[in-house]
Amino acid sequence: MKEPFFYDTTLRDGNQALKKPWNTDENQIIFNELIELGVQGIEVGFPIASEMDFNACKLLAKKTPGTVVASVLARANKKDIEAAAEAVKYAKKPRIHTFITMNPLGLKYVLKKDLPTVTQMAVDSVKYAKKLLPKGEVEFSVEHFGDCRENLPQVIEALEKIVKAGADVINLPNTVERFRPREFTSMVEQVYSALREKAVLSIHCHNDLGMATATTVEGFFSGAAQLETTLNGIGERAGNTNMYEVAVALYNTGVKVPLKMNRFYNSSKLVSNMSKIPVWEKAPIIGSDVLAHRSGIHQDGANKTKGLSKGQYIAFDPRLIGREDGEQLSFTSQSGKSALYTIYQERGYQITHEEIEYLMPFAKTMAEKHGELSFKHLDNLYRHHLCTVKGNYKFSSFNQISNDKYAVSFSYKDQQIDTIGKGKGPVESCINALLSLGVAISVMKYEQHMMNEKEKEAAEAMTVMILAKGDKKIVARAIDRSTNQSNIKAIFNGLNRLENGC
Ligand code: KIV
Ligand code: ZN
Repeated sequence: MKEPFFYDTTLRDGNQALKKPWNTDENQIIFNELIELGVQGIEVGFPIASEMDFNACKLLAKKTPGTVVASVLARANKKDIEAAAEAVKYAKKPRIHTFITMNPLGLKYVLKKDLPTVTQMAVDSVKYAKKLLPKGEVEFSVEHFGDCRENLPQVIEALEKIVKAGADVINLPNTVERFRPREFTSMVEQVYSALREKAVLSIHCHNDLGMATATTVEGFFSGAAQLETTLNGIGERAGNTNMYEVAVALYNTGVKVPLKMNRFYNSSKLVSNMSKIPVWEKAPIIGSDVLAHRSGIHQDGANKTKGLSKGQYIAFDPRLIGREDGEQLSFTSQSGKSALYTIYQERGYQITHEEIEYLMPFAKTMAEKHGELSFKHLDNLYRHHLCTVKGNYKFSSFNQISNDKYAVSFSYKDQQIDTIGKGKGPVESCINALLSLGVAISVMKYEQHMMNEKEKEAAEAMTVMILAKGDKKIVARAIDRSTNQSNIKAIFNGLNRLENGC
């Protein structure tokens, strides 16, 4: 399959729509980014617009490497074309992009001319551009092509004449997106079958109804080899087709995309900063929230397909576009056990599936009140429900007396007990103290690890043990700034759990 030709118009269509259009230095930053992205063509500006634009076009045209087409825009009149030729002539691969309206509405009310007159203006402009730029290319755009449904056969005849006059590229803009993508692409197909290989076909879509990406992607499969797009989709009104979206959609379809896609994420941030247009958090591909899963069903599917080449609920591999953040699970009232388990595990909090079952109702209630739970919320839940088990045992203190002797104080059903245990360490001494009181428990498994070690002030020890009493086994845990206290609190939490039966 042919490779698409990415023709970027951020510096022209994008820039024209900014509240504060870029100056030459800013243009250069975007230009450099486009070169790094590896686009095949750059519309560097509209030279007739102002002296600053003219100079910026000239500068960027000169700087454009020989592998990339440098193009400038001109209306279909001599003055514009002369300015365009003057600005672009030093480029290694120069192009003049001229255009005129051909839709019935525009002919009648804007140009107040008929189609034959406008066709002649287009033919003359293309010839003039070719004359001024004999080694360069000429692109011709039918402005408002998407609105040429009523006069399409006549427009196609006009295009045949324009190609004969020397146009190398015929661009079909959906200047205002009003209809269905399929309707537009069927018009593209009709132009394609009339012109065939006589000119390169291009499409340029605006996003008024939010379908510019769909139209552009399908336009490629309808015969358009050149795709005109902008970074972050900036452009007039609702913008132009977003390059990143088109590229990823084509890539997913198996088309070879000649762009450095792993720059997309950073490039989108650059463009957002420079255009002062924030990227909506739900913007496809580049939005900050588009890798988040909050529904329980999606969280489960995402968990079960994590690490596979294709995820159940993700359209692309984030690394493809240079995103370092992967799929994120967060907890809301809509979320499920699978997410809760993963969130704790990923933060290094050990937890069993039974404990998740136990925590779920508390987590849901909390989420109904607060919305998405922060990890602080989840940490509180964990401490409150798993690490502080209320019951008949109330631990009071634990102190070392000598090398192998510890004093333990606690109450049981309001009866104060102060005793001494002997053993190799705090855990063994405490268990021995309890044994001497007739509380027959043993430690089957013991683990302790430090939390928040990096922030010394906040460092805490988390103890997890499996305690057995007769044939009953439970997981007991505790968190404390002191490693010894954490151990002993875990034993008393475990005793209460054994008694409470949960
Ligand atoms: O949207 C449009 O029709 C244009 C043309 C100048 C190509 O930007
Ligand atoms: Zn446009």
